[in-house]
Amino acid sequence: MRREALEVVANEGIGPYHLIRVKRGALHPGDPGQFFMLEAPGRVLPRPMSVCFAHASELAFLIDPIGPGTRALCELRPGDAIHLLGPLGNGWRLDVERPLLVGGGIGVAPLPYLSERLGRPPALLGFRSEWHAEAAALVPNAEVVLEPTYVTEALPGGYDVLACGPEPMLEALRALVPDAQLAWEAPMACGYGACYGCAVEVDGVLERLCVKGPVLAAA
Ligand SMILES: Cc1cc2nc3c(=O)[nH]c(=O)nc-3n(C[C@H](O)[C@H](O)[C@H](O)COP(=O)(O)OP(=O)(O)OC[C@H]3O[C@@H](n4cnc5c(N)ncnc54)[C@H](O)[C@@H]3O)c2cc1C
Ligand code: FES
Repeated sequence: MRREALEVVANEGIGPYHLIRVKRGALHPGDPGQFFMLEAPGRVLPRPMSVCFAHASELAFLIDPIGPGTRALCELRPGDAIHLLGPLGNGWRLDVERPLLVGGGIGVAPLPYLSERLGRPPALLGFRSEWHAEAAALVPNAEVVLEPTYVTEALPGGYDVLACGPEPMLEALRALVPDAQLAWEAPMACGYGACYGCAVEVDGVLERLCVKGPVLAAA
């Protein structure tokens, strides 16, 4: 884990989301599903974001501007400073035989990096509209379903499911695929185990999601 002050390279709108590309500096991108705390200096406190792409000289993050922190990040322009801390948490186990990536809404964010690392397996993505579904272009080999259809209605059997999305989607997947690896969310203040702001119950025990997760096996 390192903290670095870096520079924004690009900010591209994709449907309602923003793909923010950042100079990578000396940061290690971590494994798919790990995250960084991103801070627009002087504006708001850091917010957790998954790595969307990792290239030799850049990291990219796909951000949904839903509140003050994410909006401040989405307002950054090329040349602006951005602070990154990470990589943090635990990502997906990659030793799976028949991967199927499943994403819902902004849960698509970590899937491009996961797809590259797994050799571009099939993906099933759910969105609430065509506009939101523009983000599906970032994930190779993706089938898209739009509401009112849910990914759980289109889910083929026989795959190792690796998923990220809204909590109701993850709960429904957990019921259908008990051994799915699911990336969960909780509000995070520090990102590295110091504040207990992200505590969630896992198998009856209170755990810090930033340390134990964000990816947890459902079983
Ligand atoms: C490990 C991890 C990885 C993430 N990766 C991404 C990503 O790649 N792209 C992306 O756009 N977002 C991602 N998020 C979610 C993102 O961090 C939050 O949307 C952001 O912190 C909200 O901050 P805000 O100030 O914009 O909105 P706030 O005003 O803080 O929140 C707006 C609303 O969302 C709720 N909320 C805020 N944070 C969370 C959360 N973490 N879980 C559930 N509800 C929340 C609040 O209760 C409030 O109702 C990730 C979260 C985690 C924990
Ligand atoms: S965010 Fe501080 S302990 Fe997890």
